[in-house]
Amino acid sequence: MRAPNVKGSIQQRLLLMLLLSAAGIGVLLYIVVQSVAEQIAQESQDNILAASTISILDSARVRQGEISIDLPYSALSMLDSVTDERAFYAIRLDDVFLSGYDNLPTPAAFDESDTIFQSATYLGQDVRIATARRSIALEGGQAFLQVSVAQTLTGMNLALARISRISLGVGVGFFVLSVIIAMLIAQSTIRPLHRLTESVSRRGPADLRPVAAPVPSEMAPLVASLNTLMARLQKSLSRSEDFIAEAAHRVRTPLAIVRTQAEITLRRVEKEENRKAVREMIRAIDESSRTAGQLLDHAMVTFRTDNLSEETVHLNELVTETVERLSPLSELKEVDVEITRLDEVSIRGDSILLQSALHNVLDNAIKYSTTDNKVKVSLEASQNHALVSVSDAGQGFSKDMNTLLRRFARGENAEGVVGSGLGLTIVDDVVQAHGGSVNLSNNTGGGACVVLSFPLH
Ligand SMILES: Nc1ncnc2c1ncn2[C@@H]1O[C@H](COP(=O)(O)OP(=O)(O)O)[C@@H](O)[C@H]1O
Ligand SMILES: [Mg+2]
Repeated sequence: MRAPNVKGSIQQRLLLMLLLSAAGIGVLLYIVVQSVAEQIAQESQDNILAASTISILDSARVRQGEISIDLPYSALSMLDSVTDERAFYAIRLDDVFLSGYDNLPTPAAFDESDTIFQSATYLGQDVRIATARRSIALEGGQAFLQVSVAQTLTGMNLALARISRISLGVGVGFFVLSVIIAMLIAQSTIRPLHRLTESVSRRGPADLRPVAAPVPSEMAPLVASLNTLMARLQKSLSRSEDFIAEAAHRVRTPLAIVRTQAEITLRRVEKEENRKAVREMIRAIDESSRTAGQLLDHAMVTFRTDNLSEETVHLNELVTETVERLSPLSELKEVDVEITRLDEVSIRGDSILLQSALHNVLDNAIKYSTTDNKVKVSLEASQNHALVSVSDAGQGFSKDMNTLLRRFARGENAEGVVGSGLGLTIVDDVVQAHGGSVNLSNNTGGGACVVLSFPLH
């Protein structure tokens, strides 16, 4: 059978897509958490810096046209005493430096807003600087008092690094969780497909009933076409079965008539050479009717084993019946058929097939026996097997026993014996369809022994 042409896997593709989107969301989550944290940290630092500049501005007093600033202790202490940060400040009046750190960077230009923030490097450290100004009236007129307060970023950068680690953990954790969920989703999506496959492959070879189990809507077209295919197959199978039965009838009946006529003719013919010719004719008719019969039997067996019926078959009755049925042949050949043991045992199966199998075995035993030989038949029930054995005293099987079960295979001893090589094939097919096995062997004292073994349930 041709292996299916596989390309890709729905489950893997689904998993890949789910994982890619989970990874994307994970990275996005990391970036968002990171930038929100950064922004919040920045804002809170800016607020403190702004408050600090305002409190310095508020402490400025103008007395007799002179400006005096009483630097409030709290304005800077809240920037450097609690944390390990360093704080700097610079106070300028217009562009004249008054107090603090002279070279602390100041904004290039003031716009509308009252406080301006900038990030810069000062004394080799990253700092955040807030600058605010206020106009005051002095002797010489209006002037701008400008206050800058700066704070290093060491602590904040540490805190941000921690937040970054946490958000990375959150991102990775999210991804791991998503992998598990994605795997569950992919599995459950594909499950109905597995269920369908299982229910179809669990069937026997001849079970062509439509699939009735519920399936998701996406799979309905597939199941519908599967059902149509099986219905068509079923129809064509039963048509062939009818054809075979019909053919069997049409071939057997005229051959039987010809044979009868030939025998009647034989009685009337007196010349020895003519009698010989008619006898040869009868033999040829036998041969072809037997071959045709076995061919059709074999086809019938193939069909019936595919559609095995399950009735109770009493093997003991089957054995006695078959022996009786073959008594004309055994009497003709002067072979004595004896039933040596007959246990009462029954199995479930198809009686027509079982009879056909036993008939073939017995027929062989009689056929390959020589005059005055004995054929022994026994039916033995053990705890879990029923054994039918047919043993003869003929010349036995030739060496290659197992090949004899093949279609049209005949042994070296078959020369001059009417047959088709299908008998043991039929036997094997029937026994296997009933879950049993066929064993061919030669008796130690000569002769063949065929044992059919059926399991008892
Ligand atoms: N009882 C037997 N004794 C000896 N040989 C046998 C016996 N039964 C079967 N065989 C061998 O097995 C071959 C296959 O048997 P079978 O399939 O029934 O074909 P056929 O009987 O038409 O020859 C026979 O040709 C014969 O060589
Ligand atoms: Mg045979």
